[in-house]
Amino acid sequence: MKNYTRLFVLAAGLFLFAVSARAHVYLDPKAPMEQRVEDALSRMTLGEKIAIIHAQSKFSSPGVARLGIPGLWCTDGPHGIRAEVKWDEWEQAGWTNDSCMAFPTLTCLAATWNTDMALLYGKSIGEEALYRGKNVLLGPGVNIYRTPLNGRNFEYMGEDPQLSAQMVVPYIQGVQQNGVAACVKHFALNNQEDGRHVVNVTLSDRALYEIYLPAFQAAVQNGGTWSIMGAYNRIWGQYACHNHRLLVDILRGEWGFDGAVISDWGGVSNTDEAIHNGMDLEFGSWTDGLTEGRSNSYDAYYLALPYLEKIQRGEVGTKELDDKVRNVLRLIFRTSMNPDKGFGSLCSDAHAQAARQIAGEGIVLLKNESPVLPITADKKSILVVGENAIKQMTVGGGSSSLKAKYEISPLQGIRERAAQNGADVQYVRGYVGDIVGEYNGVTTGQDLRDDRTPAELTAEAVNAAKQADIVLFIGGLNKADHQDAEGYDRLQYDLPYGQNELIAALAKANKNLAVVILSGNAYAMPWLNDVPALVQAWFNGSETGHALAEVLFGDVNPSGHLPFTIFPTLEDYPSHQYGATAYPGINNEVEYKEDIFVGYRYADLYGQKKPLKYTADGRQYTINPPKHKPLFAFGHGLSYTSFSLGKATMNGNTVTVGIRNTGSRQGKQVVQLYVAPRKPGIVRPKKELKAFRKVSLNTGEEQQLTFELSNDMFRYFDADKHEWVLDKGTYDIYIGTSSANPETKIEYTVK
Ligand code: BGC
Repeated sequence: MKNYTRLFVLAAGLFLFAVSARAHVYLDPKAPMEQRVEDALSRMTLGEKIAIIHAQSKFSSPGVARLGIPGLWCTDGPHGIRAEVKWDEWEQAGWTNDSCMAFPTLTCLAATWNTDMALLYGKSIGEEALYRGKNVLLGPGVNIYRTPLNGRNFEYMGEDPQLSAQMVVPYIQGVQQNGVAACVKHFALNNQEDGRHVVNVTLSDRALYEIYLPAFQAAVQNGGTWSIMGAYNRIWGQYACHNHRLLVDILRGEWGFDGAVISDWGGVSNTDEAIHNGMDLEFGSWTDGLTEGRSNSYDAYYLALPYLEKIQRGEVGTKELDDKVRNVLRLIFRTSMNPDKGFGSLCSDAHAQAARQIAGEGIVLLKNESPVLPITADKKSILVVGENAIKQMTVGGGSSSLKAKYEISPLQGIRERAAQNGADVQYVRGYVGDIVGEYNGVTTGQDLRDDRTPAELTAEAVNAAKQADIVLFIGGLNKADHQDAEGYDRLQYDLPYGQNELIAALAKANKNLAVVILSGNAYAMPWLNDVPALVQAWFNGSETGHALAEVLFGDVNPSGHLPFTIFPTLEDYPSHQYGATAYPGINNEVEYKEDIFVGYRYADLYGQKKPLKYTADGRQYTINPPKHKPLFAFGHGLSYTSFSLGKATMNGNTVTVGIRNTGSRQGKQVVQLYVAPRKPGIVRPKKELKAFRKVSLNTGEEQQLTFELSNDMFRYFDADKHEWVLDKGTYDIYIGTSSANPETKIEYTVK
């Protein structure tokens, strides 16, 4: 070859190389994200763009095979990795290698009040997702605990916006450090399951911004969540999955979200609205069991052919489509095309340890007189009563149902631990509740049938209780419909299946009684005065029994605190003060008439003579003070040791308070900081949680804790001006270990 020919070939080669290198910016993980997105977008055909914004199967969406862009695999969430289902059905795929570690439910995580536990949780579940080839974890949920009847409260983080906000951030970070996206749900105002597909929520902007949005905002702005799931319900008359105000104005406009909005399964119901109002990725439409039920209907999705045809007919342009594709591409680059993601791990010892530790830290000792707990080594005959001592709880409850590799029941955990003391453990059933043990084809394999009458079961339990050194009643709710389960709300505030009567009978039979409740919700406690010890033990997944036994026997000192208020009756809850208008709604209209007075914000009005009357964005509010004090306040939780808080001091914006373990064993305590305006210019809650810290202290040990105050902690949302307002003046900073017990206070002036 002549020299100039060689040169020509070289130049041409270099040119082609340069062109092709530029041509594949989207494949270069080091290139700036937006360049990659634009590059990939510019190569996609109209059909490929439409394909990428809706599902191809129950839990997956396609990528662009022609360009080597992989799709996305989603999984429930939020307590473990869901078992594999068939391509187009909810039924099990029948795999034998898809069991997971079941982590405690999110109420338990919230009850740890420990952000390190949230990070550990996120990291561990993220690793499980990765191992199973999942790119998007459908969770965590941060809908506010508005009524104890909400069947899905167990999947959420309680009643307080700050607690949820501060716990959700590390959870997301832990998940996403694996190259797996969190998908924070259900945005927003999905606060009941009753009528969840149709209810229309109306509320003041103040309640929206102060109570219902902060955790989502923190998830976006502090947690950097890569995706968010629209809710099923309507707000201001428009479905959440294509709600212009929520998704366009607030999520993108005010918060600057750059991730993808994923629909709840079957949450999209209108092509035009989905096009224009911020829905990016449609899942579950026509899904049998949720909406109308058609097979392999993916082309019929609202954002599939109906959208394509509108574009082809010239009814809409492609600007909105390109924006959706950009959001989905970003999600793909961050997850399925993330070159830094590793391999993850499934059911590892580390995950078992994490599940056990989180459960142990979340269990709340509500009451402990005499003290009955911890169980001492001299208790040689232990009686365990109640269905929840043996019932597998990881199966059931809706989409969070799991196929756990194993689940240690409370009875098993107690038996193993009692053996170390040479104690004998007897078990009697006490009551029969739910014996189903199956969800979407996953079965527990337990046969819980028992045909005896309640009278026979009670008599057996009472007789056995009389003989025992100590009685542990283990009951509560379960994952059956109308208990703690998706799709339904509870029908009553009382514990079901005659448990109230049984507990009362056991209390008469033996003074050494500890009641242990597994639930994700509060319940009535007509027997409380007769029961010396009460433990709130949630649903704690694979390590349930081990974690519970460690707390009951004192190997782990309880340190959980309530993430919600427990009132004596249903009528004491603010959302139940206004009849059906406020819950469950009339003709599918629900008005949040209690406004910002949710949970302890309402409980704090106890003792006030007159109702609060005020107007917020044009609506009249009347808040009647509660008739009863809570049985247990938000933030309450006992320990086997004791602590004392010193006097708070202030230096500039820094509050310092000493905390000392004054008891005889190591323990953890939750120090909570609340802000209280002295003379608010407008109606405000008496106090609001703004910061908290969990500390571990050995006997006699003392630690100085510091909290930085910032202006954000003092603002309220002015709905008329549509902005956060800071009132100058004097505030009290309360510091304590429950919302009912501000042990030290100090003044602070906002200048
Ligand atoms: C639930 C979601 C869940 C989805 C997929 C829906 O019914 O509301 O929380 O992630 O199903 O299973």
